[in-house]
Amino acid sequence: MAEIDRTRWEARYASDARPAHAGANRWLAAQAAYLDMVASSSVAPLHALDIACGTGGSLEWLAQRGWHVTGVDISSTALAQARGRLEANGLLDRVTLIEADLDVWRPVEGYDLVTCFFFLDRRLWPALRAAVRPGGLICLSTYHTGRLVEHPETNPAHLLAPGELSALIKDWNWCLLAARTNDQIEAVFGRRAGDFWAGGNNQAS
Ligand SMILES: C[S@@+](CC[C@H](N)C(=O)[O-])C[C@H]1O[C@@H](n2cnc3c(N)ncnc32)[C@H](O)[C@@H]1O
Repeated sequence: MAEIDRTRWEARYASDARPAHAGANRWLAAQAAYLDMVASSSVAPLHALDIACGTGGSLEWLAQRGWHVTGVDISSTALAQARGRLEANGLLDRVTLIEADLDVWRPVEGYDLVTCFFFLDRRLWPALRAAVRPGGLICLSTYHTGRLVEHPETNPAHLLAPGELSALIKDWNWCLLAARTNDQIEAVFGRRAGDFWAGGNNQAS
């Protein structure tokens, strides 16, 4: 499975069929006001994890806003492109890039923010939940089955049921800060229960 993923994505990133979203994920960018408020209220730099980061558009966007970021992807070509753009913008010191297979790789740290865009593996969800520290944030977005109307060739295993991400956040008993579903894409922005400022990040403490 992983070797098939690697080969397929390496071929895509080396060709014109590379994923179109070179910049930050739009749903992430829509949360800018909240994320900037959180980051500006923190003494220490906050740390985000981007799962299946591709060429690093969201990593770059977060790093430009002061976040320290870790990106994980199976494609060395995508990660090399990410490294190039981050280096060109003087952001490499804030970024860790990990080439790993998400079939087996799991985060161990407590992150302030976990993001995952256009990559679906439900087996990862418990690990993503655990990776967010108390009071921390999660931002997810990918296609749901509505995509089949325009793209019937899409593998249904890569598609959410509409409303599935919102149901997931509620099932975890987390606060659903924002959610959106259009004809193809579902997106959520949630916060784990707990005091975000516990542990020395509160400027007032
Ligand atoms: C559709 S792209 C999304 C990239 C990025 N998140 C974005 O929204 O632009 C899916 C990404 O998942 C990565 N990927 C696919 N299978 C993987 C696996 N088993 N382990 C790690 N990354 C994988 C691919 O290399 C690719 O970068």
